[in-house]
Amino acid sequence: MIDIHTHILPFIDDGACDLNEAYELIKLLDEQNVQTAVCTPHFNPTKVSLDEFIHKRDKSLSLLVESKINLIPASETALHPYLFHYPDIDGLCIKNTRYLLVELPFDKKWDNPVFDMLERLCSFYNVIPIIAHVERYPAIKNNVRIIEKLKESGCTIQLNTTSIIDKKNRKRVLHYIENGYIDVLGSDCHNIKTRYPIIRDALDIVNINLGAKYNSQLIENAHLIIDGKERKRKIIYIME
Ligand SMILES: [Fe+2]
Repeated sequence: MIDIHTHILPFIDDGACDLNEAYELIKLLDEQNVQTAVCTPHFNPTKVSLDEFIHKRDKSLSLLVESKINLIPASETALHPYLFHYPDIDGLCIKNTRYLLVELPFDKKWDNPVFDMLERLCSFYNVIPIIAHVERYPAIKNNVRIIEKLKESGCTIQLNTTSIIDKKNRKRVLHYIENGYIDVLGSDCHNIKTRYPIIRDALDIVNINLGAKYNSQLIENAHLIIDGKERKRKIIYIME
């Protein structure tokens, strides 16, 4: 199994605070049968240069030599106009793929600039944006049909497993999965105390509520993504 969204790497963002915590997170993933974790530290182009980020990320990754699971370098990139100053952003994508985990603004409503920037990611950089933790954005909660718009514009959609665990969100996010809005899951784990990875239990809940075929599709899509292949598309049915 693959965890597509993690903050395991230490000393780079608000994820693992040191090597010990990084190894604890790896252990928790390993215990849940995760063999590969995509390392997605936050990259905010208004705060650090791309070169500096990649240097720090790769240095952090090189420290985890005793990891029991495969670690793949990537990023969780904040969508901001500064990003487009760079001639290429290959180093931010999931290694050897065109997939880029993108964090969108937490505004109540997204205006055209957000969609324009996503379009530029696709057309200018030839990148496939993966929208990080789609369920967390107020703009989505206010209008779920925006997920359709994101998918139509070529985005892949990621949901956090903790939102399946959380009883306040469970019904809503299972509805998203059932209706084909979600392509892939990720733990978005940050630390061992408050934001640790919960994957197996989330998959069990999907299995019990929706059936095994939904799990299989979500798991398979993660494999397709890290192999740089297109995830399986599913026709979206309108839900209300
Ligand atoms: Fe994240």
